[in-house]
Amino acid sequence: MVRTSHDQYRENVAGRADVADTPELVAYYEELEQIAAGALWTVANKIEPWQPKSESVPMIWRYRDLRPYVLRSAELVTPEKAGRRVIYLNNPGRREVSAAVGWLYSGLQTMKPGELASAHAHSASALRFIMEGRGAFTIVDGHKMTLGANDFVLTPSGNWHEHGVSADGTPCIWQDGLDVPLVNAMEAGFYVVHPELNQAVTHPVDDTTATWAATALHPQGTAWNKPYSPLFKYEWEPSYESLRRYARATEGSLFDGVLMNYVNPLTGGPVMPTMGASMQMLRAGERTRAHRHTGSFLYQAVKGSGYSIVNGKRLDWTERDIFCVPSWAFHEHANASQTDDACLFCFHDLPVMNALGLYREQALAENGGHQPVLE
Ligand SMILES: [Fe+2]
Ligand SMILES: [Fe+2]
Repeated sequence: MVRTSHDQYRENVAGRADVADTPELVAYYEELEQIAAGALWTVANKIEPWQPKSESVPMIWRYRDLRPYVLRSAELVTPEKAGRRVIYLNNPGRREVSAAVGWLYSGLQTMKPGELASAHAHSASALRFIMEGRGAFTIVDGHKMTLGANDFVLTPSGNWHEHGVSADGTPCIWQDGLDVPLVNAMEAGFYVVHPELNQAVTHPVDDTTATWAATALHPQGTAWNKPYSPLFKYEWEPSYESLRRYARATEGSLFDGVLMNYVNPLTGGPVMPTMGASMQMLRAGERTRAHRHTGSFLYQAVKGSGYSIVNGKRLDWTERDIFCVPSWAFHEHANASQTDDACLFCFHDLPVMNALGLYREQALAENGGHQPVLE
């Protein structure tokens, strides 16, 4: 018989479980197992660590490595057969749940000119960040949107959605971000294929941007009571211009440079209940200080190049590279250019952390706020 240790998580610290195995206790534990029960003190120190212990590994996925495989997928499978033709980011610490970091999924989707995927809906919330190509469009709940590079698009939970590229466009690639692993952890995921495979466009093209994207101007008499933003597409040009203007008026954050959140224009809160997103600018020569907080983060370098240090691991990034910051990992960012700004797009699960009262943050006190680079 294999002898099992029941005291491997002992800690000789007041207030923590510190019970050594004895023949009598081990027999007792085995009897408890027979009735599908256990003694908390044998696992307490494991299931309640002193601080968050992320299983996610700090990772960078370089676009020059991913892009050929993403384009090749278009030669290997059709959107109809694949459902969604996506190459997903598989964090070595999160393979079991197909997550890129924490409870967040991400992948790169490609479509060729003239292709249209079938419409579906799911409990998971989704977002998209357009990486390259001309002519992409998406239809969400009857709202058709044209998509350009660096546009940020929402597909909130439960809405019919489908994507395509117009016949006169070019091959397009975008990053998908979903909370699928979280929804699965909550055992709350449903998936439906549209009964007619495609949905009707029931609003003028780009109407959500026309209606809700004006700076500090909201239309009168437009009711909206859904738990997500009525603005589905956040275009790059006005977003970047907002950052440039804000950069002239602020010192910025020690940890993030000039950062602005994509928000629900009606509430000022996050764009969707489970996922938020931001765009940040690192000014020429800027190097931020390190801090850590709860929440999982996936960044895409949108403009320029530089590096981030995540728990001592230096990740050098350039345009379109994607990297993650796991929960409670120290992180700091640097722009490599002394003359141009660099921009990072980011999506995360902070709305969940905040809603559940689990957000914590800590600055790195030592070494002037900079981590030693360990690898
Ligand atoms: Fe979807
Ligand atoms: Fe941060």
